[in-house]
Amino acid sequence: DFLILCIGRHSGTPNIPEFPANKGPELFKGKILHSIDYSYMDNVAEFVKGKSVTIIGSGKSAFDIAAEVAKVNGADQPCTMIYRTRHWLVDKSSIWGINLSYFYLNRISQLLVHKPGEGFLHYLLASALSPLRWAITKVIETYFKQRIPLEKHGMVPDYSYSFAMSSCLIALLPEGFYDRVDEGSIILKKSKKFSFCGNGIIMEDGNECIKSDIVILATGFRGDQKLRDIFTANWCRNIVVGSSDTSVPLYRYRLDNFFLVGIFGGQYILCYRIHFFFLRNCTTT
Ligand SMILES: Cc1cc2nc3c(=O)[nH]c(=O)nc-3n(C[C@H](O)[C@H](O)[C@H](O)COP(=O)(O)OP(=O)(O)OC[C@H]3O[C@@H](n4cnc5c(N)ncnc54)[C@H](O)[C@@H]3O)c2cc1C
Ligand SMILES: NC(=O)c1ccc[n+]([C@@H]2O[C@H](COP(=O)([O-])OP(=O)(O)OC[C@H]3O[C@@H](n4cnc5c(N)ncnc54)[C@H](OP(=O)(O)O)[C@@H]3O)[C@@H](O)[C@H]2O)c1
Repeated sequence: DFLILCIGRHSGTPNIPEFPANKGPELFKGKILHSIDYSYMDNVAEFVKGKSVTIIGSGKSAFDIAAEVAKVNGADQPCTMIYRTRHWLVDKSSIWGINLSYFYLNRISQLLVHKPGEGFLHYLLASALSPLRWAITKVIETYFKQRIPLEKHGMVPDYSYSFAMSSCLIALLPEGFYDRVDEGSIILKKSKKFSFCGNGIIMEDGNECIKSDIVILATGFRGDQKLRDIFTANWCRNIVVGSSDTSVPLYRYRLDNFFLVGIFGGQYILCYRIHFFFLRNCTTT
């Protein structure tokens, strides 16, 4: 009755940035790898030890890798993390022994978020409780801004914690990350664009060259492309991939509405509306 695609968003489709001619990886004399290759390595400590490592990106992978490299090389051989967007990476905080995430990463909090295709009751509930949602996320945002030295390091995201929460964009900050930045083991640099030169990375302004032995592209994945490529009709591709302002189109944005149940001979047979309770279990476990 159902075809469920569990093909992941993070396997087999590394996102490798494209570069204009004479500015790409072909110029670089060091090693370049994507974060997924790094994660498959057996002995990363040995690989990065004593090397100048530059990490591109500011997602969970970039933070994790920077923290790991900093642990191996310390301030003697700092690694550089080049980011273009600041994201909400927060730590495991608790108030009076209660894990803070319990306040917003729970099923009840999902009732406070509008969803395409929601029923009238859900619409009413989400609308009536939106001030509560705003208040909860504002308090948590303020709390994290005070607790984590984001401002000090110029890492306060440009979007609200509320948006991060409703788009499932929040990730866990590696332990002691900003201590490593303070001690000089990690250097954070903002640059909207980057390119390669013989001995490293050139930043957006073109003036600064970050000398590197190893460049790790923690630039994410093309999970959307993988899903899109499975289908041939454009309307179907758009349904599956969803809107571009969320990282989790299948969760909440699509599965709630339609479910593609079969493809035979290139024809899409049916889009079923899935039973409410099935969906709840399917999307939240
Ligand atoms: C480096 C890294 C670390 C992570 N660490 C965590 C973590 O600590 N905690 C966490 O919750 N999440 C983590 N994640 C996110 C993680 O990817 C997901 O939580 C989880 O793996 C998703 O599971 P999945 O089954 O949906 O997809 P996957 O684990 O990606 O599994 C997809 C499977 O489908 C197969 N497949 C793909 N395409 C096809 C096809 N066309 N035909 C047949 N088979 C196909 C793949 O080979 C793979 O076996 C991490 C991600 C990365 C990249
Ligand atoms: N331990 C864990 O739990 C763990 C570990 C690793 C990953 N994960 C999960 O795996 C998923 C993928 O994480 P990820 O960090 O690998 O990928 P990601 O979240 O997609 O982040 C990719 C990063 O690369 C940047 N980027 C992409 N293209 C770029 C370009 N051309 N130039 C400069 N920067 C570019 C993005 O910048 P913009 O933000 O500007 O787009 C973003 O900061 C996430 O869901 C994450 O939570 C979990």
